[in-house]
Amino acid sequence: MDAIDVIVTKREGRELSGEQIAWVVDAYTRGAVADEQMSALAMAILLNGMGRAEIGRWTEAMIRSGSRMDWSALDRPTTDKHSTGGVGDKITLPLAPLVAACGAYVPQLSGRGLGHTGGTLDKMESIPGWRASLSNDEMLAVLRAAGAVVCAAGDGLAPADKKLYALRDVTGTVESIPLIASSIMSKKIAEGTGALVLDVKVGSGAFMKNVDTARELARTMVELGTDHGVATVALLTAMDRPLGLAVGNALEVQESVEVLAGGGPSDVVELTVRLAREMLATAGVNGPDPENALKDGSAMDAWRRMITAQGGDPDAALPVSAESVEVTAPASGVLSRLDAYGVGLAAWRLGAGRARKEDAVSFGAGITLHAKPGDTVRQGQRLMTLHADDAGRFERALGALDGAYEIGQATGPDLLPLVIDK
Ligand code: URA
Repeated sequence: MDAIDVIVTKREGRELSGEQIAWVVDAYTRGAVADEQMSALAMAILLNGMGRAEIGRWTEAMIRSGSRMDWSALDRPTTDKHSTGGVGDKITLPLAPLVAACGAYVPQLSGRGLGHTGGTLDKMESIPGWRASLSNDEMLAVLRAAGAVVCAAGDGLAPADKKLYALRDVTGTVESIPLIASSIMSKKIAEGTGALVLDVKVGSGAFMKNVDTARELARTMVELGTDHGVATVALLTAMDRPLGLAVGNALEVQESVEVLAGGGPSDVVELTVRLAREMLATAGVNGPDPENALKDGSAMDAWRRMITAQGGDPDAALPVSAESVEVTAPASGVLSRLDAYGVGLAAWRLGAGRARKEDAVSFGAGITLHAKPGDTVRQGQRLMTLHADDAGRFERALGALDGAYEIGQATGPDLLPLVIDK
């Protein structure tokens, strides 16, 4: 087999055979196919697409590049959620312990922030002592102790995806539905979960800017999961405005704890409860209702066990940034737009995200929102508070917010429904 044949097959818009796919993914993982050859193939896939069977074979080859986790030693079903990423999307934090409190195991491998979108591991690491890297045995021990574990994927899980994702990031080949779907699903299938709920975000703050492409991505991923024996459903949810009132690592942990204590912003609570119900139904678990588990303290108990089992102190004070600045309403009226991308970019520039892969994030940096679209505001009233460790960051963050919000008159804003479709 030869890499050029594989590239030319896809360049000419023909279907790759199972043999070609298995060979090229394996040879690339071993270093026998060069980065420039894989870049050319990724671009040919982006331009010419892949059929359903072909995406399935590609995903299978990525799974086979590493090990597959196995939770059959556990006595209850496993279920997980994956979000395609957004601004203020802290849902995993209350969701994982909530679902555990309702009777399923949640083995969740999470990622770090990417661009303007936050990452679950960066958020959790703002809890003093909490560890993201666990061995498989440690994961099992945390699952047994708390019912849920949130940690980083080890090097052995879909190594082909790690290499290919880094290459796509620098070759303009991220935005391909077959490549995104196979990248996400190879990791989720290798993770060994029995059931999976996909939260496919739609809007300016998401990868998928419109409902049609989000629906196509969701369908492709649901088919891949189903074909690999994972009970999979997808929700399309709104990311035209930020989720909740907190954007930034420790700020989002604080908001998640409020949800676990029975409070928190209504959109975060609604989406957490909806996703929990979907995860439990998909796993076939008929336990307590998630809404009650938030009120009766059982979800909070599972959170505290989970944090403690991973070395964290659930009672420790969270990091706070030294500097802050207020953004006030320039006029009275209704907040008619609060753009998720603008807010995410501003939080990134404040230090909540990274400029380069090796950078550290600032745990306290980010934005506290004081109004959401639809709220009536008065001129001079606080719209948001920006937090940073270094006051020098405010100017560029304020630049990102320029044009990101609008105050209009009486009529309500034109927003996507929180849950657009299933
Ligand atoms: N997340 C992934 O894991 N892979 C992609 O290709 C895009 C988002």
